[in-house]
Amino acid sequence: MTASYPATRLRRTRVAPWSRSLHAETTLSPADLIWPIFVTEGRGVTDPIRTMPGVDRLSVDRLAAAANEAVALGIPCIALFPNTQGHLRTEDGKEALNPDNLVCQAIKALKDAQPGLGVLVDVALDPYTSHGHDGLMHDDGRILNDVTVEVLVGQSLNQARAGADIIAPSDMMDGRVAAIRAGLEGEGFCDVQIMAYAAKYASAFYGPFRDAVGSGGYLKGDKKTYQMDPANSREALREVAFDIAEGADSVMVKPGMPYLDIIRMVRDRFDVPVFAYQVSGEYALIEAAVAAGVLEKDRAVLETLLGFKRAGCSGVLTYYAPLAAKLLG
Ligand code: PBG
Repeated sequence: MTASYPATRLRRTRVAPWSRSLHAETTLSPADLIWPIFVTEGRGVTDPIRTMPGVDRLSVDRLAAAANEAVALGIPCIALFPNTQGHLRTEDGKEALNPDNLVCQAIKALKDAQPGLGVLVDVALDPYTSHGHDGLMHDDGRILNDVTVEVLVGQSLNQARAGADIIAPSDMMDGRVAAIRAGLEGEGFCDVQIMAYAAKYASAFYGPFRDAVGSGGYLKGDKKTYQMDPANSREALREVAFDIAEGADSVMVKPGMPYLDIIRMVRDRFDVPVFAYQVSGEYALIEAAVAAGVLEKDRAVLETLLGFKRAGCSGVLTYYAPLAAKLLG
């Protein structure tokens, strides 16, 4: 006689909250979050970003409060992105090398307020170039690899001298991690980490970010000659392998939600920590759905972040870091 009941009842462990939490395979905590913050010139400025409702550009004097908030919420690290004034954006991006540029001031402000808080900074020239590209441009429009790498080393050292803990090259030039690592070691910055944007795709989801840092209006053409083709996954593994061999301490996959398969592949193949960047367009689409009344914000946000952990991430860069930390705290 066939059993009149299922031999296995997977629902059995789901019936009560205590049991669900006991059986949870993945956890999410404020310690998993990196909070990206946009910085702008001026004093006392909180400047809303039109395409990212709820996210503001902050002037440097407002960063101490953000640092204090991060520490109070248990967020271990802030990532900084400067909105450089238009007249400082040049063909050669030389403002990236100015020891008193906006991002260096911002690093110092965070470190003054909270020395124990991690500070991550992007390395790429797009906040500083008049054409909006991450690298230097030849007269014919090509983005030049090796001369760009030399400037990126200078930018990294500039940011390390200001007190940055993690250098995150997001430019996708070949060979930059090795050059930056050598530069850092050469100046004695042996404890400065490199989190390589190893698999960074040429994505439609960066639109609001380019609005936030003001580079969108300047950008000529697209970034497809250096950022990855969304069609590719094996190529991402090659990027990661090179960045590890060149001295990266951790790697990033970006954007996040459309690339969870890449995170999982990297996690399975390599033993370095993997991070994801839930980028501006991902934030904007959740916000739009919430504003339209079709998503429950808090649950949706936590579900996306848990998804990154389940896919194999050690942590996530997300504009939702303060909200998620509050919800989890
Ligand atoms: C710049 C950079 C970008 C982002 C982080 N660093 C944009 C780009 O490559 O055009 C995107 C982050 C986001 O969309 O939230 N090198």
